[in-house]
Amino acid sequence: MKFAGILVLFAGYCLADSKLSYPPPRGNVKWWGTCSAGAGCKGPCDSSMAEVSAGKTISSDVVVSRDQELTVKWGYASNRGGFVRVAMVPYSKSDSWCEFNNNVIKYSCYESAGESIPTLQTDRWTTKIKIPLNMPDGVATLQWVWYGGGNYYGNPNATFGEHYGCSDIKIEGGPFSNAKAAATFQGGDRLNPRSDVCEYHGSNKVGDCNFPNKYPNPIPGDLLSNSLEPCSIGPSKKGKPYRF
Ligand SMILES: *[C@@H]1O[C@H](CO)[C@@H](O)[C@H](O)[C@H]1NC(C)=O
Repeated sequence: MKFAGILVLFAGYCLADSKLSYPPPRGNVKWWGTCSAGAGCKGPCDSSMAEVSAGKTISSDVVVSRDQELTVKWGYASNRGGFVRVAMVPYSKSDSWCEFNNNVIKYSCYESAGESIPTLQTDRWTTKIKIPLNMPDGVATLQWVWYGGGNYYGNPNATFGEHYGCSDIKIEGGPFSNAKAAATFQGGDRLNPRSDVCEYHGSNKVGDCNFPNKYPNPIPGDLLSNSLEPCSIGPSKKGKPYRF
């Protein structure tokens, strides 16, 4: 009993990092709703289209129109830093990293709300996006990427792997235009409120902490062996996402 309690505490402290909470994510059965590159989940979504069509995941009934404002929410981890990237593609393209990389809507800081809520919450941090004018009517997939997070296993200088989440939403109506808007960046986080930067660890570029083609080799009784992390070691920095 005592041992189990310690394990749960330890796992909560180290592994229950963060996930997209709104719009509701597809959900990842294998990793309890999260998708961490360090644990072997390489995205672009927490669950693939095949897993969604097999009915294994949670479906969203969020309906929006083009140009409508939508508040994206995530949470759990605090004192972790990094950036969040939000992208959107038609559902049929949602297995493609390339499509998401080419259709980024916005970057924000991970701890972007600037609020101080003392409890762990799934919707603690937020950013507002506008539904792109070039998205056709139908089901679209919003991708959430958290990268540049750190403070791993009590080491403030250790960088996390990236985390991914996707939500399928329905787009109906609103003004249409083929022109694609440029991605935006909104800075300012808990440590740097009302600024144009974020606190982050390691790289400011999506993909640098994906551990491509690498998977952990779990050893029973060794929690650290469940992850490829840390991605890198070094003090935290203040800055903007790559190319801003
Ligand atoms: C983190 O990095 C800073 C700056 O290099 C260093 O002073 C500090 O000792 C490091 N902390 C740990 C726990 O390694």
